[in-house]
Amino acid sequence: MTLLPLIIAPDPRLKTRSVPVENMDASVDRLIDDMLETMYKAPGIGLSAVQVGVPKRLIVLDVARDDEDPAPQVLINPEIVRFSEEGALYNEGCLSLPEHFVEIERPENCTVEYVDRHGAKQVMEADGILARCVQHEYDHLDGTLFVDHLSALKRNMILRKLVKARKQAS
Ligand code: NI
Repeated sequence: MTLLPLIIAPDPRLKTRSVPVENMDASVDRLIDDMLETMYKAPGIGLSAVQVGVPKRLIVLDVARDDEDPAPQVLINPEIVRFSEEGALYNEGCLSLPEHFVEIERPENCTVEYVDRHGAKQVMEADGILARCVQHEYDHLDGTLFVDHLSALKRNMILRKLVKARKQAS
């Protein structure tokens, strides 16, 4: 397995609309393993392929708590088919916007259809942190970052800080 370089915002690649995965071939299998390793190493609870420069509709996540066994999940070509009316606030972060956490309101739960890594169709009722993570990663597939849910003022403040941090690191 290989650690993949994470794309950090602002970067036009993160604004890409990802395309469906057509074939579950060995390269997709390898990508899934590499994405999981990259997510655990970061560490993070979710990662979309576009964040490692592969604009395909593929998400990995693991919302198990530290005291629980790892529970990796792979969502290929996910479709959120239901959002709850009720919203919830949650302090969100993103591996592509390191060290920035902001409360974002989203539907509290949702239903997502997807294909698993064995090619089987699945339906998931997601609630709580799982629903949050699924919606956040799903956004990535359409080029949306959590800061896009904020006012332009707040968004630009965070993006400017990321640009500054990148300059200082280079
Ligand atoms: Ni993210």
